Amino acid sequence: MPRLEVLQEGNVRLRPVSLPDDIDVAWAWYQDVETLALSQRPGTEPLSRDRVARMYQYQAAHGEFYMIEIQGAIGVQDAADSPSWHPIGDVMLAPDTLPIVIGVPAARRRGIGRRVLALLIARARQLGWPTLQAKEIWSYNEGSRRLFQSAGFVLAATGVDPGGQPYERYRLDLRGP
Ligand SMILES: CC(C)(COP(=O)(O)OP(=O)(O)OC[C@H]1O[C@@H](n2cnc3c(N)ncnc32)[C@H](O)[C@@H]1OP(=O)(O)O)[C@@H](O)C(=O)NCCC(=O)NCCS
Repeated sequence: MPRLEVLQEGNVRLRPVSLPDDIDVAWAWYQDVETLALSQRPGTEPLSRDRVARMYQYQAAHGEFYMIEIQGAIGVQDAADSPSWHPIGDVMLAPDTLPIVIGVPAARRRGIGRRVLALLIARARQLGWPTLQAKEIWSYNEGSRRLFQSAGFVLAATGVDPGGQPYERYRLDLRGP
């Protein structure tokens, strides 16, 4: 796989995940019950460090896997002239799946997800992909559904996973202007 570049727009950037270092950063995000219910499935227990490591290794091997970083800290007055970059989540880009997690709850609903998605759509176009897809968004995950809809994704399918959980699938056509 070719070496990944940092994708940046203003104070949001996607930095290729660095293993194993980023596992310890991410581990904290996967202790939160609400984050787990939205990104994994309802009732998921906090993940062990090993489980996060396996998840990160899998995602790094199956797509372009990035840490979402913002410059300056959320909720902290930043006095520095050149604030440093802080990881707040992760996202994997593959043609048929686009799992995104903003792991720091205070960083949600500030338009960051939308900016991350714009960077990834541009990247997918650069790679010449015909479509992008968010494979399984739990139907109760209004934030995620709204995020993809707002970026132009359209409902492509609905289904129920083997555990009985209803999901929606969204797709974006990248052909044409
Ligand atoms: C889902 C997630 C990636 C969205 O990113 P975000 O930065 O919070 O979203 P944004 O602020 O860019 O908002 C994008 C749109 O979604 C809407 N939205 C975001 N969170 C919402 C929520 N909880 N409820 C309702 N609408 C929501 C925004 O109002 C905005 O809509 P608009 O474009 O019509 O104004 C983020 O909230 C997150 O990581 N959540 C936890 C994990 C998760 O659910 N991951 C997705 C798994 S499929």
